[in-house]
Amino acid sequence: MKEEVVEQDKLIPGMRIIAYQGLEARFGTLDAEKVQWLAHNFKGTTAIKVDGSQVAIDALKVGDRLLEIGSFPASLLHLCEVGEGLVKALKSQGFSRFKVQTASAQESHIQSVGKATLLVEKTKKSKETQARAAKEVEKVMDALAQGAASLESLNGLVEEIVENSYLEAIGALATLKQSDYTYGHCVDVGAIFAGVYFEIQRHRGVEPVFADLQEALLSGLLHDLGKSSMPKDILESPLQFEKDSPEMRLQRGHSEKTGKLLTEMKAHPVAINMGLYHHVKPDGDTYSSYPKNLDFKDALFETRLLAIIDSYQALTGRRPFKRSWSAPAAMRYLEALSGVEYDEEAFEGFAKVLGLFPVGSLVELSDKSRGFVMNVPQGDLSRPQVVLIQDPEGRDLNKHPLVDLSVTQGLSIVKDLDPVELFGEKALDRFLALKVG
Ligand SMILES: [Fe+2]
Ligand SMILES: [Fe+2]
Repeated sequence: MKEEVVEQDKLIPGMRIIAYQGLEARFGTLDAEKVQWLAHNFKGTTAIKVDGSQVAIDALKVGDRLLEIGSFPASLLHLCEVGEGLVKALKSQGFSRFKVQTASAQESHIQSVGKATLLVEKTKKSKETQARAAKEVEKVMDALAQGAASLESLNGLVEEIVENSYLEAIGALATLKQSDYTYGHCVDVGAIFAGVYFEIQRHRGVEPVFADLQEALLSGLLHDLGKSSMPKDILESPLQFEKDSPEMRLQRGHSEKTGKLLTEMKAHPVAINMGLYHHVKPDGDTYSSYPKNLDFKDALFETRLLAIIDSYQALTGRRPFKRSWSAPAAMRYLEALSGVEYDEEAFEGFAKVLGLFPVGSLVELSDKSRGFVMNVPQGDLSRPQVVLIQDPEGRDLNKHPLVDLSVTQGLSIVKDLDPVELFGEKALDRFLALKVG
């Protein structure tokens, strides 16, 4: 914790005073009245005199010259916690300098621990909502395959996700690879999209096109709706299809189909663009770009962002036919392709908001301890807060300290690890079992 000496006018509510200083000018040589006043108001503290000697406050005598009052007992905490009332009172009492603990550091640590604990709680709760939402997407797609569907049931879940602020938690679930790969993918993409979109637009100084989080979440979630027309055995096949195989052609038809369905459903026009264009690449000639007749320049910013999130979720999510990537590895991959396969500005915004080590990433620090990333830092994206789960010897910790790399010198992230590779099916449980301290 940082300690510093500040002038009276630099006291900020939230700081914690550990000693009153700068008294001699106003206090001068103590008279009887002052001695009494100090003994009464600072009972239990220690006084340091100008000559350096230290005495209990009630041992001060007339004629003493006072330098500092410190060692406040718990009963005088109201004289240490800087609030507006105290600052006012101090002004009239002639105390001019204070030794303070930069409460912003202390407080921000407490706040960070609180936030991290809340995130773990929310992730626990949102797991069930995410699974239900994925089931609901499946039902809607099944109903669409039969020629009829309503988005009513989805609306309720979208609201539930937003109202409980589960967006970040669903992002963490995605990082921890909990989603089934067709329907869970839709929910994750929608949640990540809604979770980052408004902040990205704020950074860009651009008015969002969606009225609220719900609208953005639903629009993102519907981007693969056209997959409803694919036979389930193809949709859920553990195989990766050959280029130009009939199955691959069906798969590549899904975005056009999504555009059509969303148009029929009179969805938000931007959602339609997102559905139709999310696989269109800047270079339309590459195999990965489809439908072939569409041009990237007609893909809206929202669509370009969604395309990045779509790939991010696909890379990190578990697929039966491939090893999945760790979230930071996926970010590096997307960064490498930004400006080539993906829109540069959209990636920049995405990385700024999701971080290069997205929440839930498992990382190893330079002292070999390991932990989960809990936040996206404001400044250097490579220095987030990490909650440690293993010590440098690889032993599991029972309590999990939060290390804020943005203020901790001498420690840094040296590599990222795949939580599933390390902990298998227990990956999410390890995260949910965090006791942040
Ligand atoms: Fe898609
Ligand atoms: Fe997708």
